[in-house]
Amino acid sequence: MKTEHAPTIQRADYRPLSWTVETVDLHFRLDAEATLVTNRMRCVRNRDAAEGPIRLWGEALERVSLTVDGAAPTAVREADGALEIDASGDAVLVEVVTRVNPRANTTLSGLYLSNGGFFTQCEAEGFRRITCFPDRPDVMARYTVTLEADRAACPVLLSNGNLVEEGLLPEGRHYAKWEDPFPKPSYLFALVAAKLVALERRVTTMSGREVLLQVWVEAGNLDRVEHAMDSLVHSMRWDEESFGLELDLDRFMIVAVADFNMGAMENKGLNIFNTKFILAKPDTATDLDYENVESVVAHEYFHNWTGNRVTCRDWFQLTLKEGLTVFRDQQFSADMLARAAGPEGAASARAVKRIDDVRVLRAAQFPEDGGPMAHPIRPDSYQEINNFYTATVYEKGAEVIRMLHTLLGQEGFRNGMDLYFSYFDGQAVTCDDFVEVMSEANNGFDLDQFMRWYEQAGTPRVKASGVWNAADGSYTLTLAQSTPATPGQHVKQPLVIPVAVGLIGADGRDVALRLEGEAQAGACTRVLKLTEDVQVFRFVGVSAEPVPSLLRGFSAPVILELDEDDARLAFRMAHDADPCNRWDAAQRYAERVALALAADPAAVVPEAFVAAFRTLLNDGALDPAFRAQALALPGEAYLLERMSPADPAALRSALVRMMRALGATLAADWLEVVERLQLAGAYRYHPGDAGRRALVNLALRYLAAAGMADGLALAEARFADATNMTERFGALAALVQSTSPARAAALQAFHDRHRDDALVLDKWFALQAGAWRWGDAAEPALARVRVLLSDPAFSLSNPNKVYALLGTFFRANPGEFHAADGSGHAFWVEQVIALDARNPQVAARMARALENWRHFTPALQASIRPQLERVLAAPGLSADVAEIVGKALG
Ligand code: ARG
Ligand code: ZN
Repeated sequence: MKTEHAPTIQRADYRPLSWTVETVDLHFRLDAEATLVTNRMRCVRNRDAAEGPIRLWGEALERVSLTVDGAAPTAVREADGALEIDASGDAVLVEVVTRVNPRANTTLSGLYLSNGGFFTQCEAEGFRRITCFPDRPDVMARYTVTLEADRAACPVLLSNGNLVEEGLLPEGRHYAKWEDPFPKPSYLFALVAAKLVALERRVTTMSGREVLLQVWVEAGNLDRVEHAMDSLVHSMRWDEESFGLELDLDRFMIVAVADFNMGAMENKGLNIFNTKFILAKPDTATDLDYENVESVVAHEYFHNWTGNRVTCRDWFQLTLKEGLTVFRDQQFSADMLARAAGPEGAASARAVKRIDDVRVLRAAQFPEDGGPMAHPIRPDSYQEINNFYTATVYEKGAEVIRMLHTLLGQEGFRNGMDLYFSYFDGQAVTCDDFVEVMSEANNGFDLDQFMRWYEQAGTPRVKASGVWNAADGSYTLTLAQSTPATPGQHVKQPLVIPVAVGLIGADGRDVALRLEGEAQAGACTRVLKLTEDVQVFRFVGVSAEPVPSLLRGFSAPVILELDEDDARLAFRMAHDADPCNRWDAAQRYAERVALALAADPAAVVPEAFVAAFRTLLNDGALDPAFRAQALALPGEAYLLERMSPADPAALRSALVRMMRALGATLAADWLEVVERLQLAGAYRYHPGDAGRRALVNLALRYLAAAGMADGLALAEARFADATNMTERFGALAALVQSTSPARAAALQAFHDRHRDDALVLDKWFALQAGAWRWGDAAEPALARVRVLLSDPAFSLSNPNKVYALLGTFFRANPGEFHAADGSGHAFWVEQVIALDARNPQVAARMARALENWRHFTPALQASIRPQLERVLAAPGLSADVAEIVGKALG
């Protein structure tokens, strides 16, 4: 447990270490309660740094011995959690022996046990929980690792790089020795010692080398790793084709583990994954699971170059690898979807992927950027780095890279990437290095102002207004930008904002754009560069009043403010040539209706809104996947942030009324969709099929919400007959989100069918934790969550279970969590404190559910504040939770 008052670490305080490490020779005698770790490292003086001692961090370690060049060191001190050792000369051999207890390690950081096997997680600062080390990403060393363990319990012994030796030892033990030829920071170290089996594949890389790919899982899961393996092969090909980047090792391993704090980890040559992002077969995984497996496998694989070969100088630079790698995995997924969809469907498939990404950004990042945790994609300070693996660093970071890609163009971006690797391969660098190299590769393209995206927090607003002048056929578009103040950052400078613009004519077709001063009209979509507080753009040759379509493709991570009446939104829903904006028009219209209904319990859903939805629903020319996106209501978290003050109960009531109205009024249309799009035959993971299943599932949701008898009957039938998880779970979700008497039996049947499958049970937990109350008599979600907490399949020690049950309740069910009696808030305190004692990272994630409490109604604020204070006062609180709650109250 860390100290209660964790110090704040400042980016500006970065200094290179006086001593770094060249080679590390690690020996592990693995034992569940007492693992002995012998670490021999060659430490070398860093001539570029100020003189000082060798600094080694350590945490939760029992130190057995420490020698320098074979002798007891002359001077050793402890300072700020690190050992300081005075040494002379230019290089010394430090040997440190530590003992750790993997079984007692419930934090899942460092070396821990999962189902009898040994696993590690070192990013960000887990390596110091294994041995004493200068545990910073700017210390890059070559590792040799020897693992020794009981052969029956741990037949498989893995670490980074290449296997160079293995053999038997007395007393039923064995060993394996691994060598990683590439220098790496300690956060990329990994070991696995467990009873696993592998799916193997041999592939040839672009330069003609044969490499071995392995996906390691428990024997019972071998029938669900094919998709992960395919995804790995596709990722390798894509990185070769798109960036000329090749796998640099002879062997690449992926290991799946059931207890894991995050999604996955890009350890060099030995990626370790949460089982959730590896295992998939039709009977247990949904289309979304398949998609996620593909993108997370790609993400971790892509890190091999953007993260591992070129890494971060310090943790403030995290977005250097994460924003860039998320951008790369988004591009990869879009390409994969487009390829599968074929030439006809490619554009729509890309748009649907883009919409998914925008949804995530709006639901998770916008609220973060508007609350007490708001930080630039490159933060200036932190108390606990694990709290900064955020939607801002990852998703907004990816948006910033996307804007660079937009500004420089595909080729300019690629040239910049090539130069980046040629300069920095094997180094630990900064975001400035990245942006500078992008500029250099593009004839000195000016990116000075662009750097502000790395420096400023908060979601910028772009206010747009347009005036058409009938007399001279001009259209004047005024764009004004502003970024709201965020904690510690009161004054904001104007940013470089690429705004993709189109003008739609009365016939629904785009007008060819011609800016004043240009000889002739060009493309129908133009990227305007907004760099000042206010800028005016004058289009000429516009013969009739156009409807502007702004921020096409979501060209910048901003909130667009534009006055549009209902008729205009309906017009853009029907005609906008940009699918993202068409979707956005539907979202804006739905938002407007939701907020109006939330403000007035007696208000009804306007007919014109339902009609606009009907038009979209019945537009057979539109890809079903797109329709499923456009007809789904905006996320509740996003809407709450748009509401002032945020009133979850009122919003929930509005959404229930909307679901019911859209379900009942459009019942015949939804039924026809189900009829027409229903698929027969064996399941295959394919975007076309997935889109049809998504739209059918959405239809069932609306029909069930409205209590339509034939819809409910359809859902029951589909639930019973489903041959794959997407359809079975879709039907179940529809039933659970209704007043149907069939819901209890369906939940039970689902449970019984999948009772031995941890990942499917996570879906079962989440569905119940997220259930809305459709009738007055219905059970509050909290009562159900409490029952499920003592379900034998639930465990507070398994992050997936916590995220499924508690995470869903706290973060995805605001209407129930924020019950007026405060019961949800009191429950939150209990759970955050219970979790914090085992796993601070997971506890901190749950703690974040209340950070935006000041946006709520006064009554809710009065309920929440004392609960936040209770947590902050809890004895032995981790730095992780203390930072979140402290900032929430601050
Ligand atoms: N680098 C990993 C990824 O994005 C995330 C691991 C972070 N883990 C942590 N405990 N902070 O792929
Ligand atoms: Zn990552």
